[in-house]
Amino acid sequence: MTVAAVVPAAGRGERLGPGEPKALRLLGGTTLLAQAVARLQSAAQVDLVVVAVPDGEQDRTAAELGVRTVVGGADRRASVAAALAALPDHVDVVLVHDAARPLAPSSLADAVVGAVHAGYLGVVPGLPLTDTIKQVDADGIVVATHERGALRAIQTPQGFRRDVLERAHAQVPLDSPVTDDAGLLELLGIPVLVIDGAEDAFKVTRPADLGRAEARLAVLAGEASR
Ligand code: CTP
Ligand code: MG
Repeated sequence: MTVAAVVPAAGRGERLGPGEPKALRLLGGTTLLAQAVARLQSAAQVDLVVVAVPDGEQDRTAAELGVRTVVGGADRRASVAAALAALPDHVDVVLVHDAARPLAPSSLADAVVGAVHAGYLGVVPGLPLTDTIKQVDADGIVVATHERGALRAIQTPQGFRRDVLERAHAQVPLDSPVTDDAGLLELLGIPVLVIDGAEDAFKVTRPADLGRAEARLAVLAGEASR
């Protein structure tokens, strides 16, 4: 079994405010992307990494991080599709992991791959929610409160059998309101397993998330040096 990690890193990071594309912002003296890639490369089950980067960053990223690169697309789905199209033939399992989740541990990637190897076609990490989640209508009036115990906040890396993920990308219409790769499988009626997520796999979206990541990285570095 050959496992490739596909990393969409071509977003602009608009919610982070003005500056470099999010994946290229600094974290711990390097970039969010470099942090995310290093953790994937340390995962025992990951054999190669393909990154979808902003146009113009292909050569530098490939040289600095030791990855294959492609130019990303107009949205996350297009960036993932571009990276999938660049996978070597012998890859049979794919992890899709956001560059915006730089501290997701290697052990999480290995756990996701393990569940794919065990026979699940799609596997995603998720955490229980602490807030109560309400669905509202266009006027802000609550229409439903979903039973919290049955809900999960979904993270990446998400793992798939390669043929299944490629089929999902090919078959689900481009205008479907899907925000992750598992959502494509769901629309085709393919079961997706949720395994325990990791607090450290949180997504850097707003400026405060960068502060959280820096603080957490300092703790991790302290633990590693003891
Ligand atoms: N992504 C991508 N190509 C795009 C859009 C997003 O590869 N055209 C990637 C981002 O780089 C990120 C991941 O998808 O690693 C998750 O997206 P998100 O957190 O929304 O990042 P951005 O789109 O960069 O941020 P924003 O939406 O605030 O602009
Ligand atoms: Mg975005």
